Amino acid sequence: MKKLVSLTLAAGLALVGVSGVQAISESEIQQDIETFQGYFLKRFPGLTIEDFQDGVNALPQYAHRRANWELAMEFPPYEPEMEKAAEEWNVPFKNGKSMNDCNLAAGNTYPVFDASTGDLRTIVGDINACLKANGEDPIKNVKRAKMARLVAHYRSQFNGERVAVDFSDPGAQALYEKGRQFYWAKRGQLNFSCADCHVHNAGNMVRGDVLSAGLGHGVGFPVWRTKWQVAGKPWGTIHRRYGGCNKQVRAHPFKAQGGEYKALEFYEAVMNTGIPLKVPSQRQ
Ligand code: HEC
Repeated sequence: MKKLVSLTLAAGLALVGVSGVQAISESEIQQDIETFQGYFLKRFPGLTIEDFQDGVNALPQYAHRRANWELAMEFPPYEPEMEKAAEEWNVPFKNGKSMNDCNLAAGNTYPVFDASTGDLRTIVGDINACLKANGEDPIKNVKRAKMARLVAHYRSQFNGERVAVDFSDPGAQALYEKGRQFYWAKRGQLNFSCADCHVHNAGNMVRGDVLSAGLGHGVGFPVWRTKWQVAGKPWGTIHRRYGGCNKQVRAHPFKAQGGEYKALEFYEAVMNTGIPLKVPSQRQ
């Protein structure tokens, strides 16, 4: 593995990782967004904020593989799967309603902070809550297959809309802080934080892979991944990906849809403010 370049973004970010969750204000979060996005725009001067929706495919270090990717995108491997997703979405419930009657957040606004529970609502959680409320069985596997297809179907309606998650509530700010600490804290036997790979080393190689920029993480999810397809399970939600990244540094993955990954998803979504949604996406 290439020697890690240690870079400090800003004092505010550098201090993260200390235990305990301190209060953070809306304007400090706004400042975080500017610092985070500014770092990547400076690191990759040819790219616009919109370009980061393509994950690793957007980076100049990946240019040699980009032509192949663009060719593959002319007939995306997930296309028949998206037709299946649309059918699954429209299957009537036993009570005559369907997923179309679910009360889901519109636009590109997930995760949504719910002040009545003090918790974050994800699209995955909302789909299962809707199934339950209508007397249907919730989907057990919340990381892949049918759940990922349904999320891809729902989110794809909002393609092109820019990420705009609401962090104005102090409860949301506390969860943002939790996600931020998770992102910058070192973990696992390799003692790596998310930022060590996806901020300080974005564009560098690790075990034959170019590391994507942390900016844009999630705007293409769920993704259809060639590596996952080999094992017959090509679809993955963002929490499936988080689990994989935790395992790479020999850290225990957390539970999909648990508090840690929901806060992490929220943090990454806030960092992506303004990037247009592009769902689903294909990844290596
Ligand atoms: C040892 C380096 C390493 C660490 C640490 C790491 N990742 Fe990754 N991550 C990768 C590699 C390699 C990939 C696949 C190539 C790519 O897209 O970056 C990846 C991919 C991803 C993707 C998919 C991006 C896309 O658009 O397809 C997300 C999201 C992600 N990582 C989030 C995280 C988060 C959050 C953490 C911290 C919990 C983390 N990663 C820690 C190496 C790492």
